[in-house]
Amino acid sequence: MDSFRYKDGTLYAEGVPVRKIVEDVGTPAYVYSRETFLDHYTKIDKAFAEVPHLICYSVKANSCLAVLAVLNEAGAGFDVVSGGELVRVQKIGGDMKQVVFAGVGKTDEELAQALRAGILMFNVESEAELENIDRIAGQLKADGEIREPARVALRVNPDVDPKTHAYITTGKKENKFGVDLERASRILQEAGRFPNVRVAGIHAHIGSQITEVKPYQESLGKVVKFIQEHRRKEVPIQYLNSGGGFGIWYQDRKAQPASKYAEVIVPLVKDSGCTLVLEPGRFISGNSGIMLTKIVYVKESAGKRFLIVDAGMNDLVRPSLYGAFHEIWPLDAEALPPTRGGGPAEGAAYTQSDIVGPICESGDFLAKDRALPKGLGRGDVLAVYSAGAYGYVMAGNYNTRPFLPEVMVRGDKHYVVNRRQTVEELLEREKVPQELL
Ligand code: LLP
Repeated sequence: MDSFRYKDGTLYAEGVPVRKIVEDVGTPAYVYSRETFLDHYTKIDKAFAEVPHLICYSVKANSCLAVLAVLNEAGAGFDVVSGGELVRVQKIGGDMKQVVFAGVGKTDEELAQALRAGILMFNVESEAELENIDRIAGQLKADGEIREPARVALRVNPDVDPKTHAYITTGKKENKFGVDLERASRILQEAGRFPNVRVAGIHAHIGSQITEVKPYQESLGKVVKFIQEHRRKEVPIQYLNSGGGFGIWYQDRKAQPASKYAEVIVPLVKDSGCTLVLEPGRFISGNSGIMLTKIVYVKESAGKRFLIVDAGMNDLVRPSLYGAFHEIWPLDAEALPPTRGGGPAEGAAYTQSDIVGPICESGDFLAKDRALPKGLGRGDVLAVYSAGAYGYVMAGNYNTRPFLPEVMVRGDKHYVVNRRQTVEELLEREKVPQELL
C-alpha cells in the first residue's frame, strides 16, 4: 500500500494536501509517508514471524535520519555499507547489535570503526577481506579496544539469475560479489587460520528489484544445502542472511506481497536451523516516497511535446541510469488512472509528452512518451511516484543544483526533516588559493 491518494481531485500524503507542502518548501522536493514505511516494515516482520529473524533495513535505499529513526522505533536493525551510514545509525541511537556491515570494498578505517562500535557482523566478500578483518581485530584486541573476535557472515555467490536489471544483478558468477560455494567451503575449513574472526553466518544477496520468488528458492536452496553440509562438519553457522531485493510495483503492480517471498524462504530457513537476517531496502522505502516537481515550460517541437520540469537527473537518476519507469501524475487532476484510485473519467483527454529536466544532456529525463491529462502547463506540479528508494540518496549537485528538501508526513502534519541545501552551503568547502592565479 501507500498513503498517497487523491481526494476531491487533489493529492494527499496521508492527511496532508500535498499542495500545502509545496507552498511550504517549494519544488523540487521529496515527500515521505511515515505510515507507509511502517506498514511495509510490519508486513515483512509478520510474514517471517514463524522463524527467528532480524530485519536489517538497508540504509542505502533511503538514509534520511528521520526514516532511520522511525524504523528504529519499530525495532528494525540496519544494513550499512559505509562508515558514513554507520554514523547515521549511531546518530539515531540504533542498536549496534542489530547492525550488519556489507560491501566489497570496506577500508581499514571502516572496519576498525565498526569493530569499535560493536556491530553484529560483517558480510565478508573475499578471503583478502577476511584476512584483513582478522588483522585489524587482532590489533584492536591487543590494544584493549575490543574483547571478542569479529563476527562475520561469508557472502557466497550462488550463481542464480534474479531476472532483474543487469546493473542490480549481484548473484551471478560474473558479478563482483561474494565467493563461489566451492571456495566458500575451503574458506570455512580454513577458518581456524583467523583467530580473531568467527564465521557466524552465510550471506547471499542476489540482486535488487526481484519480483519473482523463484530466484530466492533456487539461491537459498543451494545455500541451505551448503549450511547443512558444513554444520555436519561442526562449523557453527548461526545466521542465514538472504540479503535484500524484494521488488515493488513501479508500473504494473506485478510485485509480490512479502508473504509470497516468505512462503518459499521460511521452510528453507527452518531446514537450516538458522536465524534469518533480511536486508530489505526498496520494499520498505520505495513506495513510501514521492518527488514533487513543477512544470517550468511546455515545448512542442518536431511533433513532440516536452514538459520541462524543475527536477533533473541529478535529483532522481533512476530513469536516466536504469531506464526505470516511475508513475507520474499531476497533483491536481480530475481524470486519474485506475492505479491512482480513479479510473479515467468518461472521455478524459490524455496527451503524450516527454517529461524532461533542465540539465544539458539528452539523458536527462524522468519519462518518455508519457500519457498525462491534457491541459497541463507552466506552474503545474507533478508527483513522481515510487521515489522513496534510491531517490534522494543518489542525488548529486551536477550543474551546481543544491540538494532537495525531504519532508515527512505523519497523519495531518508534515515535517521538514532535511531542508533544501543553499548554493552557499554547496560552495562552502571550496576555495581558490591566490597562488593558483
Ligand atoms: N543487501 C545488499 C548486500 C545490497 O547490495 C542491497 C542493494 C540491499 C541489501 C538492498 O536491496 P533492496 O532490498 O533495496 O533491493 N540503485 C538501484 C538499486 C541498487 C541496489 C544495491 N544493493 C536502483 O535504484 O534500482
